[in-house]
Amino acid sequence: MPKSIDRFIPIHPQLINWYKENKRNLPWRKTTDPYLIWLSEIILQQTRVAQGMAYYQKFSQHYPTVFDLANATEDEVMKDWQGLGYYSRARNLHAAAKSIVNDHGGSFPKEYQAIRALKGVGHYTAAAVASFAFDLPYPVLDGNVYRFLSRLYGIDIPINTPAAQKEFLELAEKLMPNQQAAEFNQAIMEFGALQCVPKNPKCSNCPFQSRCFAYSENKVDFFPVKKKAAKQKHRYFNYFVLQAESEVLITQRTQKDIWHKLYEFPLIESKKKQNFESLLSLSDIHDKLKGQNFVLESQSEDYKHILSHQIIHARFYQLKVEDLNSLGFTECEIVNLSEFEKYPIPKLLENYLRQETNFLSLPS
Ligand code: ADE
Repeated sequence: MPKSIDRFIPIHPQLINWYKENKRNLPWRKTTDPYLIWLSEIILQQTRVAQGMAYYQKFSQHYPTVFDLANATEDEVMKDWQGLGYYSRARNLHAAAKSIVNDHGGSFPKEYQAIRALKGVGHYTAAAVASFAFDLPYPVLDGNVYRFLSRLYGIDIPINTPAAQKEFLELAEKLMPNQQAAEFNQAIMEFGALQCVPKNPKCSNCPFQSRCFAYSENKVDFFPVKKKAAKQKHRYFNYFVLQAESEVLITQRTQKDIWHKLYEFPLIESKKKQNFESLLSLSDIHDKLKGQNFVLESQSEDYKHILSHQIIHARFYQLKVEDLNSLGFTECEIVNLSEFEKYPIPKLLENYLRQETNFLSLPS
């Protein structure tokens, strides 16, 4: 079957029929409020629907309107986001809510370009909001759409390259019907998510079986083609949990790095795994303890946290000291353990705290 001709045959009638029969009942599909749709799309980026659902419920209840989100503090928003990862999404979400209130009078922008101009909104999210809320004909491209289209048309450009974005966007623009943009976009994503799945796609009852390039060539597993990602970097985080009575020392991450603006304990990063003695000799931790006596109460197990481009190996040393005020750690805050739960922290720290301490369960 010649690939170039097939691209002009519409796919939306079968897709939309399939969608009507097979769609999941998801809460963000029951609204046309652009604010709630935007909220759901930001949450669902790099997140599975099952996990995103709980966060969508929480955010849409805590912040039912864009004014509620804009008026919240950044720490509140980050705390609600805790555990979802990719924290820049939460910071951008909050900044964009403020901009909608301050620059758009609280009314969500109604045009693609203005939606795209919001912080944290790329082509995908702008197209999703513009189509789902306003039925504007901007095609969405996510991993599900890339997979389905690459198989159907036999496109072997690696999908994680800019060349693919251009190619797939042009194709999706041709396929987008003049009406029913919202249904078409929901349908094409849902089709990739439920039918044209990565492993063992359901080809036997697929409405596109007779015209699918990958199926006809017995190459379903070959598509989509991806360029091999760069090797992941290993990082070793050695945390010092410095405690005096019922207080601990914490610090906010301000550097341009993972977990920006989240809170953590004083940290020494090393290039390889270190034990406590070598950490003491390698670092200026002795100077920072300013001659105070300390007791190493416990050393945690090693916690491994896998991110998209790096693997964090963390270990926590819990030290009892006499006086947190006279230590030499700069840019740290002293926090009572009963207040600790209010601070947004990385999931890795939460895992450690839940498994090895009682910091998160103390009554305030
Ligand atoms: N993933 C991202 N956006 C989605 C949506 N609107 N429905 C289902 N899954 C999604």
